[in-house]
Amino acid sequence: MSMIRSLVVSALLASAVSAKTIEVKVGDGGLTYSPNKTTADAGDEVAFIFYPQNHTVNQASFSNPCRPQKDGFFSGFINSTFGPASNQFVITVKDTSPIWFYCGQAAHCQAGMVGVINEPKTGNKTLEAFASKAKTVSKSENPSEIAGGVFRPLNKNNSTSIPVPSPGSSTYPSGSPAAVSTPGTSASNSGSSSTSSSTSTPTKAGDASSLSLKSWIVAAAAVVAGTAIYIVV
Ligand SMILES: *[C@@H]1O[C@H](CO)[C@@H](O)[C@H](O)[C@H]1NC(C)=O
Ligand SMILES: *[C@@H]1O[C@H](CO)[C@@H](O)[C@H](O)[C@H]1NC(C)=O
Ligand SMILES: *[C@@H]1O[C@H](CO)[C@@H](O)[C@H](O)[C@H]1NC(C)=O
Ligand SMILES: *[C@@H]1O[C@H](CO)[C@@H](O)[C@H](O)[C@H]1NC(C)=O
Ligand SMILES: *[C@@H]1O[C@H](CO)[C@@H](O)[C@H](O)[C@H]1NC(C)=O
Ligand SMILES: *[C@@H]1O[C@H](CO)[C@@H](O)[C@H](O)[C@H]1NC(C)=O
Repeated sequence: MSMIRSLVVSALLASAVSAKTIEVKVGDGGLTYSPNKTTADAGDEVAFIFYPQNHTVNQASFSNPCRPQKDGFFSGFINSTFGPASNQFVITVKDTSPIWFYCGQAAHCQAGMVGVINEPKTGNKTLEAFASKAKTVSKSENPSEIAGGVFRPLNKNNSTSIPVPSPGSSTYPSGSPAAVSTPGTSASNSGSSSTSSSTSTPTKAGDASSLSLKSWIVAAAAVVAGTAIYIVV
């Protein structure tokens, strides 16, 4: 009986700590996202790591490539003079519905700099279809404000991300020069809105960082619970 209970508890704890971070390289050796198709579960993070030169990652809807989706994410322009840029842009995936994205620089989107998280398994909404529609878009557009993600320092020896220690500590590069360690992370081109926008992202940053704190707490609880169950059994 107690063994069954311990198995159930272990399974629950395992599912609670399984969120992962998926890395996507932006502009590493060309106008590409690498990989350009990824699969993520709800709660997983996707970390965009920026290479030279000056790219963005913007969410779009399938039917409207190279144009920002309302309430979608936008990294701002990250002009990395050498790669990878010291800050990565990290989004948290809320569910398994498809997330389409593109680079808003010049004609990068039209040239195939597009990607998808959770491409539909059936039907004709494929990345290839999105990319071919993108070719026909006359001009890419960008939102005026960075949104929908958090900047997180990259450990250059190891592409594993470093958890943000406290909610709200991460902010726009333009709003917090101290958070930027290379010129590559400048987002000054996000326009006049960058000052006014500095109220929205810290909330989202808080969500992401409290999630990782929660994961640690749950992991710690798992160890304690596991030990307790072991003693009882
Ligand atoms: C990125 O910045 C460098 C100088 O910091 C500049 O020479 C280069 O043209 C910029 N690249 C783009 C694509 O804006
Ligand atoms: C995709 O499928 C839908 C419905 O099956 C159809 O209406 C649409 O024309 C198709 N689009 C393309 C690009 O083939
Ligand atoms: C996605 O990336 C793969 C591997 O680099 C490439 O072969 C493919 O053409 C890309 N797909 C699109 C639609 O750009
Ligand atoms: C990276 O590795 C070098 C050499 O092993 C070491 O000196 C440096 O402290 C490391 N940097 C980080 C951020 O871990
Ligand atoms: C990167 O960090 C992870 C987690 O700390 C560790 O498991 C992995 O071995 C590291 N990789 C390298 C190449 O140092
Ligand atoms: C990056 O590109 C944007 C849009 O073309 C431009 O406004 C900005 O000045 C560029 N940034 C740098 C540092 O060159």
